[in-house]
Amino acid sequence: MVSDQTIILILVHPGVVTAESKARIAEAAFNGGPLGELVQWSDLISTLHILGHHVYLTASLPDLRHYFGVDTGGCPHFHSNPNLIYTDIIGLRQIKSVLKGPWFKYRCIIRVLDTFGTEPDFNHISWANKHKLASPFGGLNMIPLQFYTMFPHTPDNTFLGFVVQNQLMSEQSELFKSNKRQNQALVYGKRAEFWEGKTAYLDVIHKYLEIHGTVNNRNALPNYVKNHGIVKGTDVQALLRQSKVFVGLSFPYEGPAPLEALANGCAFLNPKLNPPQSSLNTKFFKGKPNIREIISQHPYAEAIGEPYVWTVDMNNLTEVEGALNAILNQTIEPYLPYEFSCEGMLQRVNVLIEKQDLCSSAASWPPLSALQVVKAQMSCKTACQKAGLICEPAFFPHLNNANTLAKNSVDCQTSEFSANGLVFPAYNSTQHCWFQSDPLLFSCVRSDESLTRVCPCRDFIKDQIALCKDCI
Ligand SMILES: *[C@@H]1O[C@H](CO)[C@@H](O)[C@H](O)[C@H]1NC(C)=O
Ligand SMILES: *[C@@H]1O[C@H](CO)[C@@H](O)[C@H](O)[C@H]1NC(C)=O
Ligand SMILES: *[C@@H]1O[C@H](CO)[C@@H](O)[C@H](O)[C@H]1NC(C)=O
Repeated sequence: MVSDQTIILILVHPGVVTAESKARIAEAAFNGGPLGELVQWSDLISTLHILGHHVYLTASLPDLRHYFGVDTGGCPHFHSNPNLIYTDIIGLRQIKSVLKGPWFKYRCIIRVLDTFGTEPDFNHISWANKHKLASPFGGLNMIPLQFYTMFPHTPDNTFLGFVVQNQLMSEQSELFKSNKRQNQALVYGKRAEFWEGKTAYLDVIHKYLEIHGTVNNRNALPNYVKNHGIVKGTDVQALLRQSKVFVGLSFPYEGPAPLEALANGCAFLNPKLNPPQSSLNTKFFKGKPNIREIISQHPYAEAIGEPYVWTVDMNNLTEVEGALNAILNQTIEPYLPYEFSCEGMLQRVNVLIEKQDLCSSAASWPPLSALQVVKAQMSCKTACQKAGLICEPAFFPHLNNANTLAKNSVDCQTSEFSANGLVFPAYNSTQHCWFQSDPLLFSCVRSDESLTRVCPCRDFIKDQIALCKDCI
């Protein structure tokens, strides 16, 4: 798959693992702490290495200073002219503080890992301040596609993803056969507090299945739970391969584990969230630079649907029991979307490295042949989705003029350029057209009910949503 390519120099600076960030995420990893970001960093670093690039890793502020030759009294590191920099929001702030003004010459080659995504209005510092959207992780004024997310959340950002561990390829067959599985469920929740208030739900599941857990503290669990404590990844996979159901408890949101469960042949019980949760009403999302709403614990899995994923109301025990019956009544095969396989990740990262060009005005990727214009009185994210496509913000500039609109049968009677909205290009019922005068405010996710948006959609490779068919 990897063609002859130039080897490039890549700086990887995961701010979250630096001691200076005080996130202590690496320490917590062995104690039931969140693993998602670490999974993504290690998958990214492995991918870059396998693709043959020269990777330089800095994991502290002194490392970073040394790399750029700042305050060391010596010369910059011989590799300090990277072609690409992967960091995260904490790391970007560190790079700015270490390099000061001159950080700016690197701005185009920076990619910011950002688990939950940054929507354009939160990213744009003066818009965010003016509209009370300022947040500790927003206001970075990057190009929204520079934010690389864990799942394909908003098409305004780039979907980086990660690799789901599975043994589909190595240990074929026997282990996966559902009839070799025990009548066993594994619960998704490493911390005892995630289990609080879920007893009635677990009792119903326990009528059918032995319940196993990997929880940091077994007090507070129902006494029928077989708890294994915090165990390593391979042990979790072994438990998944013995189980039939992976049971969500409604938190944590949008982690890697449900996909790992599907890849190891479990069905996933995915709790609905009612009301929908977002940074507007949920402590966990507070301060995150987006207002994306989720209506279940795992929206990506929810879209995969039955027979793999059963999205249920945890408080409706009839519904839970119905889902369990249906799951236990059939053989569920291991399932892994291509974009989360090793090969899918290699393909995606390779294409992004070779083709994604965010700063040159002559950027020609994705190719315009992939563009399909959709007009609708809703967000472009939704409008493209309804057409079986995805919003592609890289095409916004192409649509942002009266000529292109005319070619798409929008006959602007009058028009203006404005930076007063997030939905442009758009027009009203008397064909007054608005064009975006601030490119950082192009956005897939906003809508305005009085306006029709002109949306830049594109196709995608099945199960590889980051790439269009002509993109590779
Ligand atoms: C519970 O789920 C069942 C089966 O899906 C449904 O018929 C019923 O209306 C639900 N009850 C409530 C209170 O939502
Ligand atoms: C289970 O399978 C049997 C036979 O295929 C079918 O009649 C029954 O309706 C199924 N039950 C559920 C809950 O799906
Ligand atoms: C469309 O917008 C133009 C410019 O703001 C305005 O003059 C016109 O009245 C609008 N048409 C409708 C139907 O609102």
